[in-house]
Amino acid sequence: MNPITIAHLSDIHYAPTENSEVANMLREKNIYVENLLPQCLEHLKTVKPDIILITGDLTHESEADDFRYVRQVLTELMPDTPVLATIGNHDIRHAFRTGFLNIPESEATDEPYYDSVIINDYQFVSLDSSYIKRLEGIFTDEAMDYLEEKLENPNVKGTFILMHHPIMKRARHLAFTMNDRLEKILKTGKIKGIFNGHVHSNFASSVFGVPQFTSESLKTDFDVLSDRLSYNDRSGYQIVSFDENGDFLSERFILNPKPEILVERMYKK
Ligand SMILES: [Fe+2]
Ligand SMILES: [Fe+2]
Repeated sequence: MNPITIAHLSDIHYAPTENSEVANMLREKNIYVENLLPQCLEHLKTVKPDIILITGDLTHESEADDFRYVRQVLTELMPDTPVLATIGNHDIRHAFRTGFLNIPESEATDEPYYDSVIINDYQFVSLDSSYIKRLEGIFTDEAMDYLEEKLENPNVKGTFILMHHPIMKRARHLAFTMNDRLEKILKTGKIKGIFNGHVHSNFASSVFGVPQFTSESLKTDFDVLSDRLSYNDRSGYQIVSFDENGDFLSERFILNPKPEILVERMYKK
């Protein structure tokens, strides 16, 4: 296996005009994505990852300008590093296409977003688990067709999947709902890793033996507890490196190591 270093960011939720309880509390505490994102990227400059993955919720119900801002900061600070993103349940697809991908407005659709890149002979496939808009994630038949077609590429040494929702019982109502086609693919050994976010907490796990890396939010975390979601002001990102033996090391970087609880929301009965 070729060594590869992957920077994994998620749930940036850049939305300077968002007027929610949590967003307003973060502002009162002087916590801004405008500081957190450059702080993360200044560190990544020293790490020199082969690719940056952003697993969804880049913005929060935002129009193109907020996506444009995230892209601009990435371009300014990491101009030579490829970036692959996936759509989160809070991202508006046409705004993402216009602001982040720089597609002309007249051509930017709200269709599901699938994409892929090849780096160091590995294929990264971004799949849209948020298209059927609910809190939990699923893949449509179209998403599975896209993945299966990509897996036919004989010139790659392995494939990594990006999706917004984690495949994780612990994520309760926020989790991805597994399907038979994906289960079959994961059991083939062709998928070297799965990257996702959405639960604003950091987990390393495995799904049918495939390593799964779930990043916390770069803006604000929450804990999925048995009876409630507990929002706090912790934030972070991770770096996952695979060596030539296929072994991996996942390193977590926390931007606010002494978090305080902001809001707790009980689940609806
Ligand atoms: Fe999120
Ligand atoms: Fe999300």
